[in-house]
Amino acid sequence: MALDDGIVTAEYLRQAAERIRALKELSYARMNIAPGHRVLDAGCGPGVDTVPLARRVGADGKVYALDSDPAMLDAAQQQARSDGVAERIDHLHGSALAIPLADATVDSCRAERLLQVLPPEMERSVVAELVRVTKPGGRIVIADTDWGSASVDFSDSALERRLMTFFATQMRPSGFAGRRAAALLRAHAVDGVSVELVPLLQQRLADTPFGTWLTDTALRERIINQAEAAAWLDELGVREREGNFFATATMVVVAAGRTQRA
Ligand SMILES: C[S@@+](CC[C@H](N)C(=O)[O-])C[C@H]1O[C@@H](n2cnc3c(N)ncnc32)[C@H](O)[C@@H]1O
Repeated sequence: MALDDGIVTAEYLRQAAERIRALKELSYARMNIAPGHRVLDAGCGPGVDTVPLARRVGADGKVYALDSDPAMLDAAQQQARSDGVAERIDHLHGSALAIPLADATVDSCRAERLLQVLPPEMERSVVAELVRVTKPGGRIVIADTDWGSASVDFSDSALERRLMTFFATQMRPSGFAGRRAAALLRAHAVDGVSVELVPLLQQRLADTPFGTWLTDTALRERIINQAEAAAWLDELGVREREGNFFATATMVVVAAGRTQRA
């Protein structure tokens, strides 16, 4: 499913999940989950992570699945039911800016690709909320994309740079969230911040946001002209048909432990 209009649907997120499975597995590992744990997935989307998390916490554990979009929560609920783990997951409708959980409720939490969809001025409040709901000694994991690292193999590198910069700075509310995540966590009561990178390799234009959504938006904003849009889509279409489409971006997994109280 291509992201032709920039609208992120449950189906798009499900397909994307298969391409970034390594990032997801790394984020689960950094949560240090044990059976019986209570864990939070903030900005859970359609439940592509809450079901694997429910399997890790087991029958005595609990997953809190938080999202501000009721349609995503419906999809997540359906997924939980069809995978037989519904009783282990509480689906919470609300904002990560005011997580509807008491202080020190969870053993660990994660927020994947949440910060990039929020304005940067909200980032600190979201991270403060993640830290607040985590028990002392519990784990906080943030996984996000550094869209500033995105690149596409294209013959006109100046046009490619212009479009990549436009995408990172104008088409993502917070396109540099991945590179900022470690500093954001360090500003809170956490210990031992670790930073790991996961490369995202995309070999199909339709798997990227760099097709007509990018060219239509860039045309509207007068970043490129019609000839440049046509050159971009034509060349990338040929590369795709020949099996030579190549795009990369770096994803970042940042993890830390909530400071133990003295
Ligand atoms: C790019 S999707 C990522 C979903 C999921 N984490 C995944 O990896 O597939 C971002 C998700 O964050 C949710 N979201 C956006 N703003 C939010 C907020 N303020 N509080 C909670 N969820 C939010 C969206 O509804 C969407 O489901």
